[in-house]
Amino acid sequence: MGNREKKTSNASKEFSRFAKAYDQYNIIQSEVAKTLVSKLPENSYNTIIDIGAGSGRVYQNLLSQNIAFEHFIALDSSLEMLEIHPDAKGVKKVCLDFNGTGAFDTLEQTEDTLLLSSSALQWSTDPEATFLRLSQLAPRAYFAIFTSNTFKTLHQNAGIHSPIYSTDRLKSAIEKHYHASYEVRQYKLHFDAVYDMFRYIKKSGVSGGEKKLGYKETKVLMEKYPLDYLEFEVLFAEGKRR
Ligand SMILES: C[S@@+](CC[C@H](N)C(=O)[O-])C[C@H]1O[C@@H](n2cnc3c(N)ncnc32)[C@H](O)[C@@H]1O
Repeated sequence: MGNREKKTSNASKEFSRFAKAYDQYNIIQSEVAKTLVSKLPENSYNTIIDIGAGSGRVYQNLLSQNIAFEHFIALDSSLEMLEIHPDAKGVKKVCLDFNGTGAFDTLEQTEDTLLLSSSALQWSTDPEATFLRLSQLAPRAYFAIFTSNTFKTLHQNAGIHSPIYSTDRLKSAIEKHYHASYEVRQYKLHFDAVYDMFRYIKKSGVSGGEKKLGYKETKVLMEKYPLDYLEFEVLFAEGKRR
């Protein structure tokens, strides 16, 4: 991450906000995708399916980390995102909603497929059902999922319950269908002004539950927010189908 990194330790990484315009709203997601791909044990795979592929960060990290594959399926429910995803030989784009029953019925299920998913599965509406479907689709998977400790202090101050799942809830859903091992990483994103933090939350795609707050409440919250950074927490899971 070059000069965008402020401080590095194993468990926690800090970033300064006004780094580079092109990924200013996505610094954390970029770091998460890079870490997820760095966890892959082999340097060559037959088929990789990227669940919630978005604009292709996982794909780009596979290329930059020299991980080869025959087939890459970029799966996303947003056509707009898939349009941005790189095209290449061996890359297939599939527009599907992972929350739908029978979501993956049209995909071929093979034993030499690897599933990856970075910064997307926090939007599962039913984690147990989602992980069941994913485990049926392929025997091995690497997931990176934002947890409810994301924007923790903000939620505490606002008296808001996080709209996304806790680490424990995610782990228990994953463990029903996978033998899994985990790593939890925390990130801090520093800002010069509290106002910028709230703008960031709106645009980042990692919702803070702030929609539940009215204008006045948001203003009060901004005045009393005690930190000059936003907190993020990501659960990295490596799973083998049970
Ligand atoms: C925060 S982005 C992450 C994109 C990419 N994986 C990355 O690491 O940059 C989340 C992606 O998940 C997709 N997504 C959200 N809910 C989804 C669903 N139910 N089914 C399929 N894709 C979904 C969004 O369209 C978006 O592209």
